[in-house]
Amino acid sequence: MRIDIITVVPHLLESPFAHSIMKRAQQKGLLEIQVHNLRDYTPYAHAQVDDYQFGGGAGMVMMPEPLVRAIESLQSERSYDDIIFMTPDGQRFEQKTANRLSMKENLMILCGHYKGIDERIREHFVTLELSIGDYVLSGGELAAAVVVDAVGRLIPGVLGDETSALFDSFQDDLLAPPVYTRPADFRGWKVPQELLSGDPKIIDAWRYEKALERTQQRRPDLLED
Ligand code: ADE
Repeated sequence: MRIDIITVVPHLLESPFAHSIMKRAQQKGLLEIQVHNLRDYTPYAHAQVDDYQFGGGAGMVMMPEPLVRAIESLQSERSYDDIIFMTPDGQRFEQKTANRLSMKENLMILCGHYKGIDERIREHFVTLELSIGDYVLSGGELAAAVVVDAVGRLIPGVLGDETSALFDSFQDDLLAPPVYTRPADFRGWKVPQELLSGDPKIIDAWRYEKALERTQQRRPDLLED
């Protein structure tokens, strides 16, 4: 999968993909992430990319021309399955969306800044608008990093143990069960006997029961449908 990210603050996106699983995904050739500086595409003096909003009001708006130049330049190289705009008024990003996006080949992500981007870009180019939660970040970059991480780890072959993503929280509308490691007795706090039984049936049953219990207690809304 290839993901192109368009931003006015490319430095914000250096570290999130340079370590751990995202780094390995790129080294294995399973994921290619390209970050583009919007200012490289503007025809305006002083690398201007934003301007005052029509109608007045505080806050600048990202101009259409630099965005269209960036988008069309990338589109001339390959076709994109989705052009995603990160915005707090977008559709809530959830595991199901991550699963769906992980099967795509080419994604483009636009990061908004200031008051947002000119509405005409949303109307004529953007195919998917995503929010990572009901709070406002100072730009779309951190939200884009969240989406790329959640999607990237689901690409087949990225996680060492192919099955491990299957047991993540939310993957089957259940939160993940508790996990333990050595020692089996730490300060007198013991690991549940079932996990030490060595019997896969007993272990699976315990995990399912705990996942259900945890979901009922913390996120009953997940069990509603
Ligand atoms: N940009 C600013 N806030 C955001 C949010 N909550 N989700 C996605 N993009 C954003």
